[in-house]
Amino acid sequence: MGKLRSIITGSGSYLPPNIVTNAELAKKVDTTDEWIVARTGIKERRIADEGVLTSDLATFAAQNALKNAGVDASEIDLIVLATATPNRTFPATATTVQANLGITTGCAFDVQAVCSGFLYALTVADNMLQCGNFKKALVIGAETFSRIIDWKDRSTCVLFADGAGAVVVEASEGEGTIADRGILYSHLRSDGRYEDKLYVDAGPSQGGDGYLKMQGKEVFRHAVSKIGSAIEQALEDNGLTGEDIDWFVPHQANKRILDAMARKFSLDTSKVVETVHKHANTSAASIPLALHEAVGDGRIKKGDLVLIEALGGGFTWGSMLFRW
Ligand code: COA
Repeated sequence: MGKLRSIITGSGSYLPPNIVTNAELAKKVDTTDEWIVARTGIKERRIADEGVLTSDLATFAAQNALKNAGVDASEIDLIVLATATPNRTFPATATTVQANLGITTGCAFDVQAVCSGFLYALTVADNMLQCGNFKKALVIGAETFSRIIDWKDRSTCVLFADGAGAVVVEASEGEGTIADRGILYSHLRSDGRYEDKLYVDAGPSQGGDGYLKMQGKEVFRHAVSKIGSAIEQALEDNGLTGEDIDWFVPHQANKRILDAMARKFSLDTSKVVETVHKHANTSAASIPLALHEAVGDGRIKKGDLVLIEALGGGFTWGSMLFRW
């Protein structure tokens, strides 16, 4: 067998129907719509109803992606699901999704890199497809961050939300060049020295469930510099400039971070896919949600060069280039 490459053949997403506006949050904590919009760009977010699980959101997004790719669930032999809010400590939420989809062959597992989770999961799937052992993968980012938020903490509860996005990735014969469709490049990083900047203050090994804690200013500072260097690396390693990028689909944490990156790399703002105003930060789901929105409304077309990036707790961060 010749060299293999991974091609994304379809995307899908799912958002819980319940919309929570800034004005509604202002009734629960000491905040205002003006503050939230000015500091983050967020206007509203989706929150899953009680009893709805991460696997439910993930399954709907996966079904949507399968339909758009024209792939039957029975053809999928690999599911990689990125989440920091699994249904349970174990089994992996990916296996629940596998069962929901009626798949009884292949393998399914979770990847945990918080907001960089989708980037990590797509990289893992890409490598497994390139090895030739798997043919068609579902890569999903799905979160119910509303479950780990302290709804009394105004500095975090306005930022995070629920949702899911998914892509179908297929192994294709042939090495290809940067001009061909497929995943072209991935750059992953982590540095665990920063774990106290963004974390959940309990877990199975420590006991208890815990809440998300964040040093917002510090995270902001690191996000701008680390995402900046990951993008720089992606462009430099591929002999590209910002002008070569057709679509920039960043992790949707804060509009100010998105704008800073667009400015730094001279990216036309019309090339930046932005959903943070209506989705807020859905962690591992944010990139596939934004990607699917721009594919669905016809902005991202076959052959377009797409740059994605993320930073999450850990810290974990990175960048990726693919041609849609
Ligand atoms: N409404 C009103 N005021 C709020 C508030 C809210 N929801 N949250 C915090 N404040 C207050 C603070 O208490 C503080 O008041 P003080 O000056 O009286 O102490 C003031 O606003 C400024 O807080 P600060 O944290 O310095 O604001 P900021 O400009 O850094 O903005 C974030 C806060 C969280 C929006 C910003 O730091 C950020 O976006 N960080 C990165 C977050 C992120 O991307 N995380 C995910 C990465 S995956």
